[in-house]
Amino acid sequence: MTTLSLSVNGRTLGPFEVRDDLTMNDFLREQLGMTGTKFGCGAAQCLSCAVIVDMPDGSSHTNPTCVVPAANFDGKAIRTIEGHAKDGVLTPLQTAFIEHFSFQCGYCTPGFLNEGQVLLERLEKTPVPRATLEAVIAEALDGHLCRCTGYVKYHEAVRAVILADAGRYLV
Ligand code: FES
Ligand code: FES
Repeated sequence: MTTLSLSVNGRTLGPFEVRDDLTMNDFLREQLGMTGTKFGCGAAQCLSCAVIVDMPDGSSHTNPTCVVPAANFDGKAIRTIEGHAKDGVLTPLQTAFIEHFSFQCGYCTPGFLNEGQVLLERLEKTPVPRATLEAVIAEALDGHLCRCTGYVKYHEAVRAVILADAGRYLV
């Protein structure tokens, strides 16, 4: 057993006593009841299970949860799909996913949403030229698998959010 304390969507939780072999995905879904984080391949191949990890230096990245022990997240700050909308108000990226019909079953959506949000926050700090935007979006979303709609509509939704506020994300 291991002790686990962490921040989830801005709330400090723990300490919990967790089994050494408990995955972060099971911890979120079974122990915290936060089922928005999905379990797809279970082999770190699809990223439907990815959550955002916020680092002390202010940077953020996504991390799969299906093959990673919950104990590895001790002391970490993470964000999940449940943390995006505030008081029932969707974020611009969530709204864009809906408007662009980016998903059908939605199983991959939490991973894409977390990845897209990380990209938006990165571009806010380090804007990129418009000419590189398509490649920047493609690279950011690379690795996320979707069996329903393909990838174009997710890409288009992320692009739309960026172009709608170009002064914020582009140089
Ligand atoms: S379920 Fe974790 S990468 Fe597929
Ligand atoms: S919307 Fe079904 S897997 Fe992507």
